[in-house]
Formats: sequence, C-alpha cells, structure tokens
Amino acid sequence: MKQEILDFVKKYVKKQEWQIGDRINYAGRVYDEQELSNLVESSLEFWLTSGRFTDEFESKLAKYIGVKYCSFVNSGSSANLLAFWVLTSPLLGERQIQRGDEVITVAAGFPTTVAPIVQYGAIPVFVDVTIPQYNVDCSQLENALSDKTKAVMLAHTLGNPFDIAQVKEFCNKHNLWLIEDNCDSLGSEYDGKKTGSFGDIATSSFYPAHHITTGEGGAVYTINPLLHKIIRSLRDWGRDCVCASGQDNLCKHRFDGQFGELPKGYDHKYVYSHFGFNLKATDMQAAIGVAQFDKLDDFTQKRRENFRFLKDSLAMLSDKLILPEHCNKSNPSWFGFLLTCNSFERERLVRHLEDKKIQTRMLFAGNIMKQPCMQNIPHRVIGTLENTDIIMNNSFWLGVYPGMTEVMLKFMADTIIQFIVDKSN
Ligand SMILES: Cc1ncc(COP(=O)(O)O)c(C=O)c1O
Repeated sequence: MKQEILDFVKKYVKKQEWQIGDRINYAGRVYDEQELSNLVESSLEFWLTSGRFTDEFESKLAKYIGVKYCSFVNSGSSANLLAFWVLTSPLLGERQIQRGDEVITVAAGFPTTVAPIVQYGAIPVFVDVTIPQYNVDCSQLENALSDKTKAVMLAHTLGNPFDIAQVKEFCNKHNLWLIEDNCDSLGSEYDGKKTGSFGDIATSSFYPAHHITTGEGGAVYTINPLLHKIIRSLRDWGRDCVCASGQDNLCKHRFDGQFGELPKGYDHKYVYSHFGFNLKATDMQAAIGVAQFDKLDDFTQKRRENFRFLKDSLAMLSDKLILPEHCNKSNPSWFGFLLTCNSFERERLVRHLEDKKIQTRMLFAGNIMKQPCMQNIPHRVIGTLENTDIIMNNSFWLGVYPGMTEVMLKFMADTIIQFIVDKSN
C-alpha cells in the first residue's frame, strides 16, 4: 500500500512554465517528485523527530562540506545561535567566550549573524566591508582587536566567500574562534575547498530561498570533536547523554556514573552538562533535504551560469551600476546578484523593477547599526562604516536561483538596461 501511495504522489507533481507577465521571484523552491515522495514516506513512517533521514542528511552534508560532524537543526538562525553558544561552554576552559567579551563582525548583512552575540551579552564590534565584494574589509581587522576579542563571526555575503586566508591568518595569530555563517553560500568554494570547512564552526540555512531547502532548517558543522559534543548537548536540551532519539544506554554506563552533586548512578539520560535548547528539526524536513541534496551540484552550476548571464548582460552599464566581484581564489555559488547604483537613485530603479514584476531585495539589514533593534545595545564600531552606508542607501539584489530560465534573466537584464538608457536620454 505504501508503494501505491508513493507512486500516486510521484504522479501528482505539476510543472509550471514562466511566461512574460508572470512574476519573477528572487528565489524559489526547485523540486520534483522525489522531494514529495520522501516527505510522504517519512510522514507514513511517522517517526516525526530526528531519525533515519536526519542521519542520512547529516552524513551527506558533512561529507560534501568536508568536515567530520554535521548537526541538523530547525533553521539557519538556530544554527547561528547554536554555533555561537557552543563557544560559551565552560568545557572550553580559557577559550570560553564570556559575557562582555568582544566578537568582530560586520554591520552589512543578516541580523541573525549578529543576534547570538547580543543575545548572550557579548559585544559585537563592527568593521566596514569592501565594495564590490561586500565582505569584511580585512585591513580593519587589526584595528578592531582588543584584549577582550574572542571570536570573528562573518557570513559569506550572498554566496561570495570573504577573504578566508586573511581572516584565518588573523584568527590564528590572535587565538580567536572563527564562526563561518555559510547560510547563503552552500556550494561556494575557496582555494578548492567548500566554504563551511574553514571555520572552527560553520552554519547552513535550508529556508526555501536558499541553495537547497527543507522548508525551515539549518545545520552546524565542525571538525572538532569537543565542539561537536557541545553542539549536540546544547541542541538537545543541554543533556550530557549522546543517545539518539529513542535510543537508551549506548555507552553501557547509564546507571553507574557520578555527575555534579547528583547521587551516584543517577540516570545519565537526565544529566545536564549545559543549560541548553531544543533546536532539532523533524525527520520530514530531513527527508526533503535528502532529495534536495542530490540536486545540489546541478543547482550550483545553474546559479553560476545565471550570475554570469546577468553580469555579461549588464557589463555595458558598469559606469552606472557597480557589478559584483568575487574574491581571489574563490568560486562562489551565488545566492544573488548584488548591484550598487552610483549615478541615480536606487529607489526609482527598484520601484520600476517591482512594477515590472521583478522581485528585488535589499542586502538584508543594510547597516544593522541603524536598525531599531540596535537601540541601547552595547557595541563598538571601527571607523566610519562608509561602504556599509553606501550599501544601505544604494544597493539591492536580484535572484539567480536555479528555477530561472534564460528568458527570465534576459527580461530582467533588458528591463534594467532600458530603464537606465531612457534615464540617460
Ligand atoms: C547570512 C544569513 N545567515 C542566517 C540566516 C538565517 O537563516 P534562517 O532563515 O534559516 O533562519 C540568513 C537568512 O536568510 C542569512 O542570509
């Protein structure tokens, strides 16, 4: 009966062709019968919490990124929260991040790269970014250092890897943790290796707009066994025990340990080495992820081709629009195509594109320092954040997701060119 249901599900998937006049979204879910069939299969199994699909998804992701450990969680923001919180564990001794310690980051980006720093009570230290890479300005890193600095937490902006060699050198020199927010850059490479493999700890998001989706979802990566142990503890309620959901007594010492001031032999399943969270996702989400994962290489190639198409088409406007550039040694899997208007108002172009049903996006928070959430939040700023302000005022981005066809991309490029040519006459 199960097979019959799955065969019906596979027949159910409908494909829709885009036509002029339809909306062009900046991102979207690209899927087929395999995602639906996995989702239904997992629902029929009705395990619900993390299970066999989660194990498969985690091990595929770890292998792909090139790390030993991967933990699936319920969003990219949860992944960032967990990645940061791990570094506050007392198990890390002298390297534990304490409240009041400083973490170097940028103000041009997504809020939940910075949120965990603030939520814990550490101090974000903002440095500027460069244009047109839109990543941390490495020449500012030494200026941002203080005797309180414990970590650097940065995203690869819209899939464009930051200068990992320089950032790592800085972190190694000063014994700082590196948290790599890889939420917008699954599949990007630097020096021939996948981003997400360079930080002490790194994250992914599988929100529908991202490179692959599980609906809501995220992941935390590391090569470090101690960090992995803390990740699992904090992800799963703060517990000390490492048994999977539904498993008992994996270590064979469930009733003979001595922990804290608990009575000897207290059930290890209920021993807590941290005050933790529950950030696990469901097996149904992982089941979608397993099917999406098989498409990842094709998606990455399509993202690169779409980016190249827009860049080539808009090259003639390079005196009016700053076009994005990647850093040396990197091969981005672009999340979007970021443009900065340098001779006219961004708002007019963005309104025009939206009127033509081409969806646009800002670079998330713009300058997070100017957001209402920053009121009364202790922080430090290095320099003037001049480029961050330019991005807040003049930049926007378009999608390059694998569901875009050449007809859609050409329509987007032609619409921009026409607007600028008309404006110049
Ligand atoms: C750089 C970055 N980090 C983190 C996130 C958060 O991911 P999620 O939406 O899965 O919470 C996003 C969201 O798009 C992001 O762009």
